Amino acid sequence: MYTVEELQLDVTSHCNAKCPGCARNEGGGKTVSWLNLHHLDLTFWNNFLIDIKNKFQIKRIRFNGNYGDAIMHPDLIDVIKTFRTHYPKAVIQIPTNGSARSLDWWKELASVLDNSEYYSEVQFAIDGLEDTHSIWRQNTDFNKIIKNIKTFIEAGGMAQIVTTLFDHNQHQVDEIVNMAYSLGCTSIFLRPSYHDQTPVNTDKNFVIYAKKTREMMEKADWKYNKMYNKPLWFDNNSSLKANQKIHNQIVKNKSKCPWIRDSLIQMDCWGNVWPCCHIGNTNTRNQSFDVDNSILKINSLHKRSLDSIMSDSWFTKTLPESLDSKPWDICQQRCGVV
Ligand SMILES: C[S@@+](CC[C@H](N)C(=O)[O-])C[C@H]1O[C@@H](n2cnc3c(N)ncnc32)[C@H](O)[C@@H]1O
Ligand code: SF4
Ligand code: SF4
Repeated sequence: MYTVEELQLDVTSHCNAKCPGCARNEGGGKTVSWLNLHHLDLTFWNNFLIDIKNKFQIKRIRFNGNYGDAIMHPDLIDVIKTFRTHYPKAVIQIPTNGSARSLDWWKELASVLDNSEYYSEVQFAIDGLEDTHSIWRQNTDFNKIIKNIKTFIEAGGMAQIVTTLFDHNQHQVDEIVNMAYSLGCTSIFLRPSYHDQTPVNTDKNFVIYAKKTREMMEKADWKYNKMYNKPLWFDNNSSLKANQKIHNQIVKNKSKCPWIRDSLIQMDCWGNVWPCCHIGNTNTRNQSFDVDNSILKINSLHKRSLDSIMSDSWFTKTLPESLDSKPWDICQQRCGVV
């Protein structure tokens, strides 16, 4: 049995939002022309799970990736139900912009996530208050998201607010933390933007800055420094449940690669398997000229099973040998591997 701590699944390449730093669009404007818009096929997903359930232990599934937002998948609830059938004990996490779907849909999602034994949650991106949130999360509606969060929580769902701090919203951090608490969220996660500056190329051209904020957040005397890149829990029971033993028995491999070390893998909506989200991102991969692109010939689940892909020499030799001898640019730049 192969243990996967986390399967990261980009279940769709569709999105309702236009965040300027996202791989799916050009500076918050048009969707990139080469993106094949697709939703993971439900029958393919079911057959895939039947094939792997006795070969791979999956402890957590995270509906995250490079190109889409999970709530845009027309059958997300069925995708989750199918997963639950085959992996009843796995933890489910859904990071989302939260700005789509009806209130009834959010109630149903809360019931499907069923937290009776293990802790599963939706992580709602709230990048400011009503006046600042959509500067980054373009095309989303702050008030609609707040209504969705309330409905989801009232229906029994566990919600985390994830706030990316920029120079334009960092002064609102106290209000955002208080709001997350009053809404009944179990926790809030504060993080700096991964870009120091992002040019926005829409009808309004401007730049979004975050460098000063990141520097402020890294200082030991920053008010929330202890919560830097860690959740601030409001609810002890949820925190205990989320950290109960099953989650702590983490398989650690020896590798310079953080994804191999933590036994994480990525799958996209077209059925391709990747060692991480960086190599799974076409642009990032193509900018690193030394990556061995023969992965493209062996990583399709439409042609091979997951165990056959994971035991292919690309995963067992090519990648580990590059990490040990001459790490690819992408591994140096994204993960600091030397
Ligand atoms: C392409 S998104 C996919 C998930 C979902 N659509 C979302 O936005 O939460 C991948 C990840 O990047 C995160 N992200 C987006 N903008 C970011 C930023 N400026 N800094 C750090 N992470 C960011 C998202 O929150 C998400 O966890
Ligand atoms: S919500 Fe997520 S997928 Fe959609 S544009 Fe923003 S970062 Fe990209
Ligand atoms: S970029 Fe390289 S080191 Fe980083 S997670 Fe991917 S494979 Fe591992």
